[in-house]
Amino acid sequence: MEDYICVIDSLRGRKIVLGVSGGVAAYKAAALVRALGRMGADVHVVLTEAGARFVAAPTFHALSGNRVWTSLWDGSMENGIPHIALVRGADAILIAPASADIIASLANGLAGDLLSTLCLARDCPLLVAPAMNRQMWENPATQRNAATLREDGVFILGPDKGEQACGETGPGRMLEPEALCEAILAFFTPKLLAGRKVVITAGPTFEAIDPVRGITNSSSGKMGYAIAAACARSGAEVVLVSGPVALPTPAGVRRIDASSALRMRDEVLAALPGADVFIAVAAVADYRPVETAGHKIKKSGAAMQLALVPNPDILAEVAARPDAPFCVGFAAESHDLDMFAEGKRRAKRLPMLVGNLLADGLCGDDNTVVIYDDEGRHPLPRAPKAFVARQIVEHLARLLPAA
Ligand code: PMT
Repeated sequence: MEDYICVIDSLRGRKIVLGVSGGVAAYKAAALVRALGRMGADVHVVLTEAGARFVAAPTFHALSGNRVWTSLWDGSMENGIPHIALVRGADAILIAPASADIIASLANGLAGDLLSTLCLARDCPLLVAPAMNRQMWENPATQRNAATLREDGVFILGPDKGEQACGETGPGRMLEPEALCEAILAFFTPKLLAGRKVVITAGPTFEAIDPVRGITNSSSGKMGYAIAAACARSGAEVVLVSGPVALPTPAGVRRIDASSALRMRDEVLAALPGADVFIAVAAVADYRPVETAGHKIKKSGAAMQLALVPNPDILAEVAARPDAPFCVGFAAESHDLDMFAEGKRRAKRLPMLVGNLLADGLCGDDNTVVIYDDEGRHPLPRAPKAFVARQIVEHLARLLPAA
């Protein structure tokens, strides 16, 4: 589980009923309970009879900290009616894994056990993560049932394709717990950027000297990727133009790799039509070698000089366009943050710029930033980059002119 998701705390106070039906993927539900708990959710597990054949109730009890419910006839709940009591006050029901059997029950409004009954009695959203053999998933009956659920407003998450427990390969694998957490998080994130297109640069650039050497900046890409993820969760169409980093592409984000500043500029300009927002998080190299040697330069022992030319300033170029989108700059400074960051914002005529001190911003998981806009400076407390990213998105959504 990526820590950038876990620490975000977006599910604090959310009550999630997790239904676990029969399938080998039930073992992944244990990791899911833990991950949802780490994100602050209050998880209540409902285990079907078939689910309990794969993972027993004490595992879910220990991981969720809550009693596990298995029977429609359990009289120990306050009002003696678990299928009503459990679901009232729930923010969502998630069924993972969802077998072909429970999907068929839900599509037909059956209420033969606790899980199907409480789904029928729910007044909250229902999300379903199918998990079954590929033939079972592709069977017209299952496809019909899944289509019925979609029509009924149920959210179907996945399934994934790949190797299956039975040894076959194809669609039907349950999404991994990380992907399900991301889907839940996106589900609960207010859609502040719905209908907006956002182009983001992230990471360093690499300016090649020869095939094995180059000039680069220190940047992990974490801040830019966290902003891309936050924008996607907020409903935006996101194009992420990325320098060389070792990070997975956030869910719902179109990523374009661009190693050098020149390439990054070309990709940004190509992605720009229709963009409402441009966020330049990348640490772009200010200079590049005049020439890139075609072969590895041999060591001669003599002093060597490298001729450099300035790279184009991508952000300045985008911000100066007559049809410029809402531009957000970044500035990493070692001292006098206010003076340098606000100076960059004014020089590039940006409505918003995020300043961070080098010690905090570079490569680590946390960041301390100050947002600068026409109203002044807005310091944010030190926090994980995912959390900072969410606040930056909330701030820009407030400043963004109406579409
Ligand atoms: O990737 P991480 O490890 O998480 O670190 C994040 C970060 C520290 C790199 C990030 O938060 C950050 O501050 N990025 C901007 C770094 C910087 O100081 O850039 P700059 O002062 O060179 O440029 C100012 C702005 O112009 C930036 O928005 C930059 O992306 C943009 N720029 C700069 C030069 C250039 N040729 N083209 C640009 O678009």
